[in-house]
Amino acid sequence: MHYGRVIAGTCLLIGCLSLGVPGRGADEAALQEQMKRGQEIFSRTCITCHQADGQGLQGGLFPPLAGSDFFMADKARAIRIVLNGLTGPVTVNGVTYDNVMPAWKGELNNQEIADVMTFERNSWGNHGEAVTPEEVARARSAG
Ligand code: HEC
Repeated sequence: MHYGRVIAGTCLLIGCLSLGVPGRGADEAALQEQMKRGQEIFSRTCITCHQADGQGLQGGLFPPLAGSDFFMADKARAIRIVLNGLTGPVTVNGVTYDNVMPAWKGELNNQEIADVMTFERNSWGNHGEAVTPEEVARARSAG
């Protein structure tokens, strides 16, 4: 009786491990692929303004994405900005920018926006969960 439970418990534990480890490996591989695609999109579309190091340009021209309190604070808001662009004053890390960020909804599909944002959220010292195409789709249909 008692042994039965121990064995059942052990099997459960081994079962969890053997399912859990390959699962995490697959997630990690998927994230690496998304990061790679995101980096290519970043280099084509965002780098001119936000710069290769994600620091933007000083003098209130282009805000940083690296270590940006604004960017990392609200994932849904950041998705809306990348889709629809941004104009008017925005304060990033204590500096106010008042410039024009183009809209990308006509240029990039949901997967591409998810990829580039996942790259930005996990580069230059940023750490954030991935952005999914479904999240971008929801923001896109909300307008
Ligand atoms: C033509 C220059 C330009 C390009 C290209 C550009 N941005 Fe921006 N971006 C800006 C400007 C300017 C702002 C600030 C807008 C304002 O002052 O209202 C901004 C703001 C942002 C913000 C919010 C502020 C922050 O720093 O957290 C995010 C997020 C962002 N951009 C992401 C992107 C992504 C992703 C791409 C590529 C798909 C991109 N940008 C391409 C100029 C650009």
